[in-house]
Amino acid sequence: MIELAPSILSADFARLAEQVESAAAGGAAVIHCDVMDGHFVPNLTIGPPVVKALRKVTGLPLDCHLMIENPDEFIPAFAEAGADWVSVHQEACVHLNRTLQLVRDHQMQAGVVINPATPVETLTEVLAMVDYVLVMSVNPGFGAQKFLPGSVHKIRRLAELRRQRGLNYRVEVDGGIALNTVAEVVRAGAEILVAGNAVFGKGDPKQNAEKLLKAATEAALEKV
Ligand code: DX5
Ligand code: ZN
Repeated sequence: MIELAPSILSADFARLAEQVESAAAGGAAVIHCDVMDGHFVPNLTIGPPVVKALRKVTGLPLDCHLMIENPDEFIPAFAEAGADWVSVHQEACVHLNRTLQLVRDHQMQAGVVINPATPVETLTEVLAMVDYVLVMSVNPGFGAQKFLPGSVHKIRRLAELRRQRGLNYRVEVDGGIALNTVAEVVRAGAEILVAGNAVFGKGDPKQNAEKLLKAATEAALEKV
């Protein structure tokens, strides 16, 4: 089951509700919200007030990707704002187990994220407690960057580990996903596809989402 998670980072923020609605009409299953603090990543974006505003205009789950230091301090605020899924970076969490437990204690789906330079092996002790693992296929901080192919083997490894250990987390991929990269990540085992620029960059978000989802679904069928 392939799901598309358009990232609002590349959307027109002055028309956010309309843009999200258009992506939803094109088959988006989840709305990906990139939260950046100017410390963990060299950029600043949105926080709980925007999540709260989105909560009122869409019924889709809100997938909040926290690219921030000290995420424990903000997890309750995201829950309060209406976030459904929260992911935290392995690299940002000294007490990763505690942080993931905090997300779960707030009745949200818990995800763990790894940067391009971080190996899958750093997650072996937390795989049993997450709902999803997010593999970054760009260095986080900006939209519209070039896909890093080194992420593909990590997606494959996560799918393999899940089988071996009888776990059921899902694998999400984020960064540079577009018509020319989507088949490769889907064949490797990615199930949730984040796409910012490919959906909101230019043209109609509905049509862009439809095309990307069609390419992903075709690649998934080839896999079988
Ligand atoms: C990057 C963000 C991504 C970004 C993806 O730091 O985490 O979610 O919006 O953008 P594209 O799809 O344009 O690479
Ligand atoms: Zn993201």
